Amino acid sequence: MSETRPTFANPVFCAVDRPDLDGAIDLVRVLQPHLGGIKLGLEFFTAQGPDGIRRMGGLGLPIFLDAKLHDIPNTVAGAMRGVVGLPVAMVTLHAAGGSAMMRAAVEIADASARRPLVLAVTVLTSLDEGDLVATGQRGTATEQALRLAELALAAGCHGIVCSPMEVAVMRREFGGVPRLVVPGVRPNSRQDDQKRTLDPAEAVGAGADIVVIGRPITAEPDPAAAALAIRASLDGVAGAA
Ligand code: C5P
Repeated sequence: MSETRPTFANPVFCAVDRPDLDGAIDLVRVLQPHLGGIKLGLEFFTAQGPDGIRRMGGLGLPIFLDAKLHDIPNTVAGAMRGVVGLPVAMVTLHAAGGSAMMRAAVEIADASARRPLVLAVTVLTSLDEGDLVATGQRGTATEQALRLAELALAAGCHGIVCSPMEVAVMRREFGGVPRLVVPGVRPNSRQDDQKRTLDPAEAVGAGADIVVIGRPITAEPDPAAAALAIRASLDGVAGAA
């Protein structure tokens, strides 16, 4: 992996899942000292668009744009041309879009000045095995995730978004190079709608490069204290800076 790729000293990225710009800016200003970056998803992007991403990028933290691109290769390449013009360090696409689509996206990213990491989403954690069967897929969710991860890495993707329970198996299968970005991490007893979780230290210890954490920070009475505690829990954990 090239040294010009973005690197992240602090693995804690906060999911800023809200549609309003002013609230998002205020939240990130408060959390900033304790974060490695922020994740902005479709809720923010469909409300605030590219200008919102530029404003958030102006705050100085790396931006992970969870765009979950999935379309024909030509259309995804066009969308990636828009992404690389924004202050975005990482962007997601769906591995199920296929090899040609992923290669087209990586080509645009690698040829750009910012060279964002292209991360492949495998099986959404909201799908269970019954849902996979209903869409014509065979085998367990983990088998399907491994199949799609292999396809994504062969297509040149720089990493995988995976559930906490898949980190160890992804590391075993694909070694140390691919970035593993892990949502659904829970620092305490709170679960929300996440069903299969690890705490941040367990996830980083198992090989996560980045943990994406939303409500355990944003829904706490003191979000800055929550982010600080999560960051502190990673001190000394292998893999964390
Ligand atoms: O609030 P919470 O910590 O559950 O937020 C997790 C974030 O990670 C949300 O933004 C969610 O959309 C995202 N995510 C996830 N599971 C995936 C992919 C993304 O929870 N498989």
